[in-house]
Amino acid sequence: MSNAAQFERARRALPGGVSHELRYREPNPISIVRARGAEKWDVEGRRYIDFKMGSAAQMLGHGHPDVVEAVRRQAECAIFSADCHAAEIEWAEWVNRLVPCAERTRFTGSGTEATMLALRLGRAFSGKERVLRVDGHYHGWHDHALKGAKAGCEQSTSLGVPRAVSDLIDICDADPQSMESALQDDRIGTVIIEVSGANYGSAPLPTERLQALHDVVRKAGAVLIFDEIITGFRWAPGGRQARDGITPDLTTLAKIVTGGLPGGAVCGRAEIMELMNNVAKRNGLSPPVSHKGTFNASPLIAAGAVAAMPHLASGAAQKVADETASALRDGVNALMGSHGIVGCAYGESSTCHLLFGARRPQELSTAEIRNVSPAVIQGLRGGLLARGVDLMSHTSCVTSAAHTPALIDEALGAFDAVFRDLIRSGAIT
Ligand SMILES: Cc1ncc(COP(=O)(O)O)c(C=O)c1O
Repeated sequence: MSNAAQFERARRALPGGVSHELRYREPNPISIVRARGAEKWDVEGRRYIDFKMGSAAQMLGHGHPDVVEAVRRQAECAIFSADCHAAEIEWAEWVNRLVPCAERTRFTGSGTEATMLALRLGRAFSGKERVLRVDGHYHGWHDHALKGAKAGCEQSTSLGVPRAVSDLIDICDADPQSMESALQDDRIGTVIIEVSGANYGSAPLPTERLQALHDVVRKAGAVLIFDEIITGFRWAPGGRQARDGITPDLTTLAKIVTGGLPGGAVCGRAEIMELMNNVAKRNGLSPPVSHKGTFNASPLIAAGAVAAMPHLASGAAQKVADETASALRDGVNALMGSHGIVGCAYGESSTCHLLFGARRPQELSTAEIRNVSPAVIQGLRGGLLARGVDLMSHTSCVTSAAHTPALIDEALGAFDAVFRDLIRSGAIT
């Protein structure tokens, strides 16, 4: 079976042939059958060095033996009975120990569900419906997250989102003056920030600026949500807030918090989280904040997550991933220099973003950084894929604890060849 034939079949069964709009690739996506460590193999038997790593979920590498074994054992005991169980408590205790703002944790079905719940909690606690978000930051695909998700665009990025919902969302820039002036509107009770900066840090958000944004929100008395769905357990075991000592009211988590399995979480101050406590319901009052979800904290996911936690808690996994990402950035920068390309590789922690046409991301706005020409995206991403290297998105990627210096060297060989092709085709100068 070829990738192309598989996609032909997919197109007849799945809208657009995919299950996530960003998985489509020209001329067809690759179809993966196996993934181990930092590598994966497609239906044609071709092997790839993986810099996508399950959309940044596989911090420990694909198929970590402890996670696989824990899930296998749990599957033999009980796949899912929709009851309470011990692993969900142990899992929440790990989160509460590691993430500074976490006094309570509630598990969700995905990162999108986590931000949806966090916004509901923020609105319930503040008693105010309006939410302030930062231009270009990503918080998932629900109705309340789409206006402002595309940098420089005031419209919701999807058809079908009620205007009445979008009208409750205000957008500011990632700078304290812009946020302070937006917060003059005292109908805003909740602020959400993607703490890496837009697109896992392709538009960087330095620590002093994050601190200043935090201070502005505190002064206004709004509920502050840190979206740490990428940064949680990656920037540090306790996320960016632990690394930088900046604490929000609520935090959204997904991807790594589940040990790379499906799901997510909201954690935060007990006073806010306990709005979901349904003792009130038993007393004949309705619970102030409703949260359901058949598969929340399902035992299979909880077992995998609890098995991953000791490996995530020490910081050793993050250190390895940071070092390989740093080697990748250094290598790409050296190649850009030797090819005479105006651009750079940059990023925090275990990320690597490529920029063309400017020497530093700080020279550009978020919209300009995100506005990469289709010829560059296709040439870079497509060219690397053809040479066995898969990026996470347009011009960005992540590493994991399973990446090795040898894999980075091998990948840099592919970058070298692709840069040559991009210059020859005129896509970059
Ligand atoms: C910062 C951020 N928030 C929210 C989400 C949405 O999470 P999910 O895809 O699990 O719904 C993502 C997903 O990439 C993300 O990166």
